[in-house]
Amino acid sequence: MSESVCIVTGGGGVRIGNGICRALAAKGWTVVVADQDLPAAEAVVEELRGAGAHAVPMFLDATDADSVREVVAATVREYGRIDALVNSAGVGLRKLGADATPEDFDRVHAINYRGPWTCIREVLPVMLAGGSGSIVNIGSVHAAGAAETFTLYAATKAALAALTRGIARDYGLRNIRCNIVHPGAVESRGNEHLLADFVATKQMLPTAIESIDIGNAVAFLLSTEARAITGIELFVDAGTTAMLFEQ
Ligand SMILES: NC(=O)c1ccc[n+]([C@@H]2O[C@H](COP(=O)([O-])OP(=O)(O)OC[C@H]3O[C@@H](n4cnc5c(N)ncnc54)[C@H](O)[C@@H]3O)[C@@H](O)[C@H]2O)c1
Repeated sequence: MSESVCIVTGGGGVRIGNGICRALAAKGWTVVVADQDLPAAEAVVEELRGAGAHAVPMFLDATDADSVREVVAATVREYGRIDALVNSAGVGLRKLGADATPEDFDRVHAINYRGPWTCIREVLPVMLAGGSGSIVNIGSVHAAGAAETFTLYAATKAALAALTRGIARDYGLRNIRCNIVHPGAVESRGNEHLLADFVATKQMLPTAIESIDIGNAVAFLLSTEARAITGIELFVDAGTTAMLFEQ
């Protein structure tokens, strides 16, 4: 069992966040489930503890630097270290590019782009002091291509991919790795019907992606088995991004 400690933002999420936490816990990570929805984080922690893992829930608003600092400080108080950070907290936005309001723009950028940067900025000093660290950001296939109404959301994820490469470059020599996982359409309660059509027409593989598939990719990138991998974009999308002219 690793004693390594990972903070997962948006870890209470019912679609992807919980799958990341479950995958990390299964690999022996101690998981700080950090979410603005504290009851959701507590529910995930209860499940992880039930499976014998070490986990703790914490309230986090990733758009608020003070809140991020509190989570970082509480984690260091509790465990004395932070080995990894997963930035999964995020929101969608479905509007034509010019129909979006300035408020939409600010909100989606604050959560999907500034939030991860703020968390990285606050966690990095602890990782640097510890001599190493690994960060995985959760992007989206929308970072790689256009789909109607996803315009501003896609822009935040493309920016996050660029941030990922920049952090990897800036801190690589000090043993910090930073990668991004781009999920395709992930199956979750309530979207099975819509997803069946998506799987049939927009994926190479015939089965729906589950949150644990995203979690397993994250767990690999955080592990020492991926020690030579940094600055990359890993698409966990059942082939969606690589398809051409059939959609
Ligand atoms: N669901 C998908 O099919 C899909 C596909 C591609 C990418 N993504 C990305 O995966 C990530 C997870 O999204 P999801 O849609 O699966 O949702 P999810 O169910 O995993 O939940 C997201 C979580 O983030 C939390 N959150 C939102 N804003 C926050 C903030 N400011 N501070 C702290 N926590 C906050 C929410 O409370 C929620 O628990 C997002 O970055 C999203 O863009 C999702």
